[in-house]
Amino acid sequence: MILKNEIENILKQKAKSLGCDDEKVVVSFSNRPELCDFQCNYAMMMAKALGKKPIDLANELIGGLTDESFEFSAVMPGFINIKITDKKLSEVARSVVQDKHLGVSQVENKRKVFFDYGGANVAKELHVGHLRSPIVGEALKRLHIVKGNETISDVHLGDYGLQMGLTILQLKLDGYLDKFFEDGAKIDALEIKNVTLDVLNEEYPKASKRKDVDKEFKSQADEFTLYIQRHKEPYFTIYKKIRELSVKEIENNYDLLNTSFDYYYGESDAYDVIDKTIQIFVDNKLARESEGALVVDVAREGEHIPIPKKSEDEPQRYKNPMPPAIIKKYNGGDLYATTDIATILIRNRDFVPDEIVYITDNRQSTHFEQVFRCCKIAGISPDEQKLTHIGFGTMNGKDGKPFKTRAGGTVKYKDVVNMLVDSASKKLSENGMEKDFELARRIGVGAMKFGDLSNTVEKDYVFDIDKFLAFDGKTGPYIQYTIARINSILSKANVSIGKVDVQTEEEQKIVIAILKLLSAYDVCYEQYSMNGLCLATFDLASAFSTFYNNHKILSCEDVERKSNMLAVCQLVKLSLEKALWTLGIDSVEKM
Ligand code: ARG
Repeated sequence: MILKNEIENILKQKAKSLGCDDEKVVVSFSNRPELCDFQCNYAMMMAKALGKKPIDLANELIGGLTDESFEFSAVMPGFINIKITDKKLSEVARSVVQDKHLGVSQVENKRKVFFDYGGANVAKELHVGHLRSPIVGEALKRLHIVKGNETISDVHLGDYGLQMGLTILQLKLDGYLDKFFEDGAKIDALEIKNVTLDVLNEEYPKASKRKDVDKEFKSQADEFTLYIQRHKEPYFTIYKKIRELSVKEIENNYDLLNTSFDYYYGESDAYDVIDKTIQIFVDNKLARESEGALVVDVAREGEHIPIPKKSEDEPQRYKNPMPPAIIKKYNGGDLYATTDIATILIRNRDFVPDEIVYITDNRQSTHFEQVFRCCKIAGISPDEQKLTHIGFGTMNGKDGKPFKTRAGGTVKYKDVVNMLVDSASKKLSENGMEKDFELARRIGVGAMKFGDLSNTVEKDYVFDIDKFLAFDGKTGPYIQYTIARINSILSKANVSIGKVDVQTEEEQKIVIAILKLLSAYDVCYEQYSMNGLCLATFDLASAFSTFYNNHKILSCEDVERKSNMLAVCQLVKLSLEKALWTLGIDSVEKM
């Protein structure tokens, strides 16, 4: 917003003084950066209505406007080009360095935004499908922090579903839980020491396979699930112990991805208000029975989608795009939708957020639309509260199909992280660096995150580790490398950092790249997608690279000029570090 608004205001005032409609004056970054920095197409749009030639109107508008900050010119057929003077660019650069937000514009009305992402499930090992939610969610949350909002984050553990019943049933059958089922057992005092994460990682998949072929087993697991949901002992205590074990592992996994949560609440924390939630629907006659289950109709009138007719005389049929939400199962068990609705009730009781943002695979979009509609019609979410679902696409392998192991199995989350760390490690040693796990993790994970976030969030993308890890190109490591290079310059400079004083084209380009980066924060904030920030960060890093290649900074003999150039280095470093932080990527000191 810096400068764009300033220029717009100048042109608006002029338009007004000429009796033109000043509301329509819009200034944007130039799409011909070799000609100018900003452009305005107002004269092209308005000339006809005013009975003038566009070029004449453009000339009238800019008459007498050029000053020591901006150079306005009118070019055929009627564009207005604006160049920022070096003096003004220097001022802008200095104000960015001095600003505690480094120039990122702050929201006018601070909002409290609740982020629900991560979505790990207890007892189920995290896999490749769990990578994007913490990547996208963490970045969106940080973007809100950077823009000045208050944020709250909750992982919303899947700790209440069939997987818990299945796991406990399997553990019981395999003899792990005998002590818990002995008569008079002091359940609380018992430990499930022999049940380790490795055991869980074996038992759940085993049970999950068996349930598909063994009906008896499945219905027993359903029963166990219900016992847990109804806090029946010893099931509930066993469940709590397993949950604790899982959460530790889950936290470690998220740590590897620089992702953290204010709360580790789970679906089960909605337990206390589930009955109350269902009652709200029943009391307000918003639910009906259907085949023994309780459902809420959430389809809206007029949103029926016509099914194409096979022949002319066939009556028009419609398919309903939004199926009813099931809030209670035939066996009385609670459902995913019910826990999500009840969780909104709790969040509005405990936190009263202005907005709740969910980040999941886009295959859950119908689920969230149903949940949101249920909450609105039942008054569980006040009208003014924004409920947002950000659905992301799939991470695919190079063959364009969902990423799988060679044998066609699901790739584990940890294996992906290890692969990234190993590949980064190899790269570093090729470049003559010592082995360093933390450095390799920062680079490897940063590479994946940058590769992921460079895409528009809803799109599928290809996980291409070689491309992500390239040290030059639109990659995380390239940005990290630029910062490391600047660190090295600053440490060797033996002259103190002065103030930015733009004198060359390369410096002009850097300040313009910073303005674009600052505007990318706003665009990404509006769009809930980080791709614009990735691109702008890369553009700034590559503008710096040109500056570095064309100017001898360290060997510059003019001390003042040198200190000015160091100030440019510092400005770029701070801006890149902030952008990386926002993306959830660590910077590195050296590389
Ligand atoms: N645990 C769920 C899964 O693995 C994701 C949870 C997303 N958040 C929510 N509030 N439903 O699919």
